Amino acid sequence: MTYDEALARLKAHGQEGALRFWNKLDAEGRRRLLAQIGRIDLDNVSRLARLLTPRGSAGPAHADIAPATVLPGLELADAANVRAGRDALRAGRVGVLLVAGGQGSRLGFEGPKGMFPLAPITGATLFEIHARKILALQRAYGADLPLYVMTSRANDAATRDFFERHGRFGLPAGAVRFFVQGMWPALTADGQLLLDAPDHVFESPDGHGGILDALEADGSFDDMSRRGVEFLFYFQVDNPLVEIADPGFIGLHRRREADASVKVCAKKHPAEGLGVAVERGGRNAIVEYSELTDAQKEATGSGGRLLFLYGSVAIHVFSLDFLRQECARRLPVHIAHKKVPYCDAGGQTVAPDRPNAFKFEKFIFDVLPDAERVVNVEFAREEEFSPVKNARGDDSPDTARRDMMRKQARRLEQCGVTVPRDAQGLPRHRIEIDPCFAPGPADLRGKVKPGMRVEGDLLLA
Ligand code: UD1
Repeated sequence: MTYDEALARLKAHGQEGALRFWNKLDAEGRRRLLAQIGRIDLDNVSRLARLLTPRGSAGPAHADIAPATVLPGLELADAANVRAGRDALRAGRVGVLLVAGGQGSRLGFEGPKGMFPLAPITGATLFEIHARKILALQRAYGADLPLYVMTSRANDAATRDFFERHGRFGLPAGAVRFFVQGMWPALTADGQLLLDAPDHVFESPDGHGGILDALEADGSFDDMSRRGVEFLFYFQVDNPLVEIADPGFIGLHRRREADASVKVCAKKHPAEGLGVAVERGGRNAIVEYSELTDAQKEATGSGGRLLFLYGSVAIHVFSLDFLRQECARRLPVHIAHKKVPYCDAGGQTVAPDRPNAFKFEKFIFDVLPDAERVVNVEFAREEEFSPVKNARGDDSPDTARRDMMRKQARRLEQCGVTVPRDAQGLPRHRIEIDPCFAPGPADLRGKVKPGMRVEGDLLLA
C-alpha cells in the first residue's frame, strides 16, 4: 500500500489523523505504519465508532433478565451421561478449545498467562497442567482429543515456542494446534484511532468471542470436521482445577442434544466477578458481571438467596455444527472505557492515569441466545474452579495452589490415606499429583496404600 492509497482509505473513514507523524518517520516506520493500516478493517472501525454513545455504552442495561434454569450437579455423575461422554471420547468425537489470548496484566506477570508457574511442588505452569490432563485422557481413551489453543498477536510466538521447548508436554505434534485471534483498535470518545507510537496504531485482542472468526480463518473448523470431532470442550487458561472433557458433562450435553452447555456455581458474594446465567425472552444468556447493576447483583429471591445466583466459570461444551453456524452471525460488541497509551502532539508516548479511550470485545458466551437448546448445570466449585486472576488475595496463585492441594488431599483420603491438615483444612505438607499418574479419583486406588499417612511433601508423578 502506498502513502496515497493509505491516505485515501483513511480519509474515507475520517481517520487521516493516523498519518499525522508521517513527515517525522524514517523508512522503516513508514513501512510499518502502512502495513498496519492495510491490515485494519476500516469499515469495521466505522461500525465500532457508531456504537459509541455519549456514555460510551452500546446500549441500555439488561433490564429484562430472569434467572436461568439450572440442572443439579447429580446430572454430571449420572451413569448414562458418564457413559455417553466416555463413548464420545473413545470414538474421537471430542476436541478441546483453550482460550489463552489474554494478557497476564492483572496478575502482574509478563508473558502468556499459561506460562505462569503454579503447581505446588514442581512449579509446573498452567499450560503444563492442562496439557498433562489432556495427555492422560488421550492415553485413557486411546483417542486423539485434539487441543486447539487460541493465542493473540502479543503472545502467539512465545506460546508456540514454550510448547515446543517442552516437547508439547508429551502431546503428539498432530494433536495441538495454535491459532491467533484478531485485534481491534481502540477509539477516542469521538471515534478516532489512537497512535501509541508515531508509526503504530493501538490495537488489542478482540475478546474471546474472536475465536469464531479465528477458528474459521485458520481452517481449524475444517480440521475438526476432518477428524470427526463433534463436541468441543471449552475452557480458560487461568483455571488449574478444570476437569477437562469431563465425561459426565459431555454426556449430558450429548444426551440433551444441546447446542451449548454451561457449568455454573453459586457466586460467593454479590460482587464476585462471574458472568451470571440468565434467561431473556425464553432464550438463555450470560450477562457479564461488569454489565449488571448493583441492584441486580444484590437482588434476592425466595429464601433470601441471590436472585442471579449462578455464575458461569467459562467451562462449556459446544456442538461443532452450532459454533460453525454462529460464525456467519455477528456477535454483539462490548465496550469498556480504559487507559490506552497515546502519542502527544510531539509524538511522545503518554501512559494516561485515567480512562481515555474505548476498547471493544466480543464474548463467546453471546452465542447462547442463538442456541435452540442450552444446558446449565451446577458443579462442585471446590473440585473444578479456582482461577488465577490477581497477584494477591482472592483468585491468586496462593489460593489456587491451596485449592489444588485440598482437592488432591480429598482424593487421597478417599483412598484411605491420612492427610494431616491445619486448622483451615489445608494439608500440612505440599501435595501434587501428576494427571498422568492418576487422571481421576478411581485411578488413584491401587496406586497408593490405604492406611498410609502423608508425613512430608508428596509428589506422585
Ligand atoms: C471471565 C469471564 C466471566 C467468568 C470468569 C470466570 C469474560 C468476559 N468474562 O472473566 O464471565 O465468570 O472469566 O473466571 O470472559 N481471553 C482471550 N482473548 C481475549 C480476552 C480474553 O483469549 O481477547 C481469554 C484469557 O486468556 C482468559 C479468558 O479469556 O483465559 C478470560 O479472560 P479475562 O479477561 O481474564 O476474563 P475475566 O474478567 O476474568
